[in-house]
Parts: sequence; C-alpha cells; structure tokens
Amino acid sequence: MPDTLTILDNRTGKKYDIPIENDAIRAMDLRQIKVKDDDFGMMTYDPAFMNTASVKSRITYIDGDKGILHYRGYPIEQLAEHSTSFLEVAYLLLHGELPNSPQIDAWRHNIKHHTFIHESIKKLMEGFRYDAHPMGMFISTISALSTFYPEAKEILNPEVRQKQIYRLIGKVPTIAAFAYRHSKGMPYIYPDNNLTYAGNFLSMMYKIGEPRYTPNPVLEHALTVLFILHADHEQNCSTNTMRSIGSSHIDPFSACAGAAAALWGPLHGGANEAVLRMLDEIGSKDKVPEIIKGVKEGKRKLMGFGHRIYKNYDPRAKVIKKLAYEVFEVTGKNPKLDLALELERIALEDEYFVKRKLYPNVDFYSGLIYEAMGFPMDFFPVLFAIPRTAGWLAHWQEHLDDPDQKIARPRQIFLGAAKRNWVPLNKRS
Ligand code: SDX
Repeated sequence: MPDTLTILDNRTGKKYDIPIENDAIRAMDLRQIKVKDDDFGMMTYDPAFMNTASVKSRITYIDGDKGILHYRGYPIEQLAEHSTSFLEVAYLLLHGELPNSPQIDAWRHNIKHHTFIHESIKKLMEGFRYDAHPMGMFISTISALSTFYPEAKEILNPEVRQKQIYRLIGKVPTIAAFAYRHSKGMPYIYPDNNLTYAGNFLSMMYKIGEPRYTPNPVLEHALTVLFILHADHEQNCSTNTMRSIGSSHIDPFSACAGAAAALWGPLHGGANEAVLRMLDEIGSKDKVPEIIKGVKEGKRKLMGFGHRIYKNYDPRAKVIKKLAYEVFEVTGKNPKLDLALELERIALEDEYFVKRKLYPNVDFYSGLIYEAMGFPMDFFPVLFAIPRTAGWLAHWQEHLDDPDQKIARPRQIFLGAAKRNWVPLNKRS
C-alpha cells in the first residue's frame, strides 16, 4: 500500500493523494484542495499546536503515554544517575554525543572562560527595586547582553554562534545569582571557576565571608541532577518561542530573553513557584478535600499536575521525588512534603484526575527541594531557566541549520468585519 492519504472533498467530488512522511502530512500539500481555482486552498486549524509538528528534531524524544524522556537517545533516568556534571549533558544536547575527555575539558574551559559579566551589568541590576521578581531581572539582563556583544547578530557565522553559546551557558548562573544577591542587598560574589557548574552557582548565591565557598556535596549533586532534568523537553512553550524568535535571525541573547519570558508563565516554568504557594495556601491535610473540590468545579488548577504530552507520570517527577529524600537528609525534611504526598495520593485516586490523565509533573516536587535548599519561592523559575538555556540553544542552533525552516509566520482564519467605509465621528452611533 502506498504511503499516501487519499482525501475526498465532498464539496467537489475531487480526490487528492497526499504523501505521508514520518506519520505526518505536509500542511502545504493541503493547499491544492480548493472549490474554485482562485481559492487560497485548504489549511489546518490547530490552536496551541495540539496536533502540529512545526519542526523535525533530533534532540529530545518524549513518549507521553509511556512516560519516556530521552536526550539524544539517552534515557533521562540514566543521565540523572550517571552524569556527574550538567555541562556534560549540555554538551550532549548541543553536539548530539556524550563528550570524550578532550571534548569535555575544552567545553568546560570555554564555558568557564565566560562566567564573568561586564561590570556595567551590575549597574543595570542596581536599577531594579529590592523586591523586583528575580525572573524579571533575569529576562531583562539576558536581553541586555545583546547590547554588550553586538557581533552576536552574526548568527550564521559558526565561530560567532559558538562563542555566544559559551557566553549564555556560562553567564546565566552568574546573572541569576547576582539577581538574588541584589534582592538581599548582599555584595555580588564573582564566579569561582574551580568549582563545578552547580557548585559555582551555589558559591555565587550563598558565599558570605569565608575565603572560599565549599558546596555541600549532597546539595551540589542534587542541583546538578535538577539542572540535568530541566535541561530540555522538546517543543515546549518556551522552546517553541526560542525557535520562533530565532527564526527572524535575531541574536541568541534576545531570543533567550523571549524564551525565558514564556517559561515564566504559571502554566509553564512558573508552576514550580505556584505549587509552593498552593501548598502554603492549603496549609494542612484536612484542607486538601476542599482544594480538590475547587479544582473539580473548575475554579482552579492543581498546580504541578497535568501535562500536554505526559499522560502518565512525568519521569522527571519520579527522579525528583526520590532526590527530595536525599536532600532532606541534609536540610531537614520540608514539612510540606507530607501535604504534597497527600495531595498526590488523593488526586491519583480521584476519577476527575484519572479520567484526564493528570499526574504530577516536573514542577510538583522540585519546589520542595529548592525551598529546603534555601532558595526563595520567586527564584524557582530562575532555577528552571538556568539549565533550560542549554536546551533553548540546542533547538535554536538546530532550527538555524534546518533547510526546511524559514521565518515563523502562521496563517489565520479571519472571522472579522468585511470591508466597510469610514464613518465620521458625528455619524457614529
Ligand atoms: C511545564 O510542555 C512542556 O514540556 C512543559 C514542561 C517543560 O519541561 O518544558 O514539561 C514544563 O511547563 C510542566 C507543566 C507545569 N504547569 C503546571 O503544573 C500548571 C498546571 N497544569 C495545567 O495548567 C495543564 O496541565 C498544562 C498547562 C500543563 C497542560 O495543559 P493542556 O495540555 O492544555 O491541557 P488542558 O488544559 O487542555 O487540560 C485538559 C483537561 C481540562 O479539563 P476539561 O476541560 O477537559 O474538563 O484537564 C484539565 C483541564 O481543565 N486540567 C487540569 C489540570 N491540568 C489540566 N485540571 C486541574 N488541574 C490541572 N493542573
């Protein structure tokens, strides 16, 4: 049987054989379906891209029904268990293979060479109020980097592109930590390039008067695993934004700022903060039934639950839930854990959630760990954006190198007013 879809247009009785490739058809092949020859031709209507593949990618694979997540073919569970550094996984996402020793050494050197930020950036950050949301500071400062490195707009020059990738992966932890220190009124701590990616970030966040910050190995490892788990997730909202902005051939700093803005939304990467605020609102187990009732009445969503792709338990949530116990050994148990476990238990037994296949996602437990590690709640989306920068860059790069791609510009179905003439003010009703 041929790999084609035969479409019969009952309006005209015409038949069309549309080629099937990768279990999909090209939407442009539908444009031949017309009633009159001068018609525009058939389109698909797919709000929120529920069933539209906008790209071909080789970076991350998700099977939502089976709860499977692979980075370049490697199961996320194996990367979380075996990878000793976030930069190793960032290399995998960007280059497609796990690095050998010379490769990881060069990669680490190049990124560490770019962890410092221009001193003027500090003045820029001083302009924010003390209580500015750190994600707002993060987004603005990432965008400002485009003014410090004007050559970054040469996005088709491989050497220039590579240098901006080093700069972004190297600088996002520094910018994030500076935003935190600004909010605390504490002096900025400069990068310590003798530490790991996660260790250096903890040093810039929490170093006080000691000559050199020594990260707690359990917390450093936990943060490394969390960074690995959050590094990429195929065509999520913020990555789609990165690709779309990047398709106009703007520099990667501006595109990253847009992607981070999309991530900040409470339905996306802002959910980890929203989960903790929801747990604080619930307060105790006896209030859980009331919250569940409100969810089932459509009055609110259960933050940290549900996913566009996963109709099974988010494999990242499983790893994070286990990691929480390791962290609590050091920090003391987060008292909200029992409340979260009770919420999960009740939800997973409730027909409303079962029918809609709503399971805990990556954001449900991560905030419990972040809070136990001393991060303020409004900082949680920033902790998501740091590692996801590597994923955004991998997709940005793949998009620019994809011969199928051009500037993103969707169509619309117009239902507005037909042509009409101007009405003078004194004649308007
Ligand atoms: C991330 O895309 C990614 O990969 C994202 C991410 C990544 O790594 O980049 O995985 C990270 O963003 C995780 C998701 C974090 N967001 C939240 O936890 C916020 C709460 N979740 C929901 O807002 C929702 O589940 C979404 C946004 C995550 C997914 O929404 P969809 O796919 O558009 O699903 P939907 O809104 O169409 O829901 C289908 C049904 C609806 O009920 P009915 O209209 O059929 O009666 O399920 C209900 C929804 O009301 N539903 C929920 C719910 N999520 C969906 N009901 C209560 N609580 C929820 N959390």
